[in-house]
Formats: sequence, C-alpha cells, structure tokens
Amino acid sequence: MIYSKKPTIYIEENQNAFNRRLAEFFCTAAKEAVISHNRFHVALSGGSTPRNLHRLLAKPPFRDEVPWQKTHLFWVDERCVPKENKDSNYGNVRADLLDKIPIPDHHVHPMHEVLSCEDEAEKYQQILKKELDLSKEMIPVFDLVLLGLGTDGHVASLFPGTIFEKKDTRWVVSVTGGNPNVRRLTLTYPVLNHGKKVVFMVSGKGKAEIVNTVFNNPGRKLPAQFIQPENGQLIWVMDKEASSLYKT
Ligand code: 6PG
Repeated sequence: MIYSKKPTIYIEENQNAFNRRLAEFFCTAAKEAVISHNRFHVALSGGSTPRNLHRLLAKPPFRDEVPWQKTHLFWVDERCVPKENKDSNYGNVRADLLDKIPIPDHHVHPMHEVLSCEDEAEKYQQILKKELDLSKEMIPVFDLVLLGLGTDGHVASLFPGTIFEKKDTRWVVSVTGGNPNVRRLTLTYPVLNHGKKVVFMVSGKGKAEIVNTVFNNPGRKLPAQFIQPENGQLIWVMDKEASSLYKT
C-alpha cells in the first residue's frame, strides 16, 4: 500500500450507486463548506466519468440540495480547445449541468477562454488567488477536488513522465498530452494536495488494472500516487468493476 494514511474507500455495486454516492458526497461537502466559510469551492475534472454525476446534480433531488448561490465551480484541468468543441471539459459541464442550475455566472470559472494556454495558466493562477482561501503555505484550498484516473495512472492533466521540480511553485501549468493529445491546462500537485476533500472517481473494468497498480505498486511513481492530501481527506469512490483487481 502506498499510503501512509489509508484513504476512505467506497466500492459501489453498479454505476447508479457509484454516481449517487458521488452526488451525496458533493452535497454534503457543499453544505459543510457553506457552514464553515459561507462558500463552496469545488474543482471538477473532465473526461467521461464525471458526466453522469454532473447530470445527476442537474436534477432533483440533488439539484435542490446544493447551495448553488454560494458555490464556485473551477476546473482541475482543461483542454485548450474552443468551448463548443466536444473535448472541452467546460463545454461538457455547460451542457450537462450549468444550463440547469441556479448558479450565478460569475461563480463559474472556466480555465480556458480566448488567450493562449500559457497566458491562461497565469490568468487562472490569479483567479485562484482572488477567489480561494490560501493555506499557511500560501496555496489555494479547495473544499472539494473531484479527480478521474487515466488508465496510464495520470490524474488531471499530470501525465506519467511529467516531472515537477519541488521548487516549481506554480499552481496552474500548461502541458501537452493525453487523449486527445492537445495543449492543456492543469492544476498542479500542491493545489490538488491542499484540497480539504480529494475524491477519485473510478468506474468500469477498464480501470481495474491501474487501480490495483496505484494502490500496490509504489515503484511505478505514477501521478495518481502523488495525490496524498497534506491535511485533507483522500477518498476513492469506485464501482465493483473498477475495484475488481484491487487487493487490500
Ligand atoms: C481530462 C481529465 C482526465 C480524466 C482521466 C479519466 O481532462 O482528460 O481530467 O484526467 O479524468 O483521463 O478520464 P475518463 O473519466 O474519461 O476515463
């Protein structure tokens, strides 16, 4: 086991239970955050896994449980493509969720708009600094970070082989890679690891092998293995298929 502090692990019977667990978690985190500091700051991931969660949050009962007026949505990563492009993480959240919930427009913080990827990275860093509370290490703190897991062990758009120097203090960087293999923006490990609750959302038998590798093969030094929140809670929500090879 790579973890010094064992994460909380939920293994759900099927996709419906998997998405309901995530939606319940989202609502609870939102309510706790609003009680704590009158806002809820959440970072969403892209890819396909979160889309059913977003659709679930867009309708009763979950839609009516989330304090959207006090919620600020951010992204964990984004492909530097137009919002209308099918690969735009923001575009997919707009279609699945944003158009169906009463969230103020200025509470939605897309990563990529019109600037170059490099300029957007700097701009997003300023948005994080302005909108989020900073830890004592002066790093932005999300109430909830929702992460997917790539079959190669990537997380966000932090791909295997991407080396980050300890002295690299950037919170947002632009990279190239993934599928689609395009320019991307991604939050970096310091920000992801400062989340109060950091949740991996992993479903499907196609992820079973990488799940077991992440948990039980520390020598691989995969990006997902570097997600170990400093003070926050690490949670893995999986369905039975994704956890089928995982041996505790
Ligand atoms: C991205 C995602 C990425 C994703 C994983 C899993 O923008 O590409 O943030 O990190 O979470 O690739 O993707 P699936 O959920 O589609 O398997």
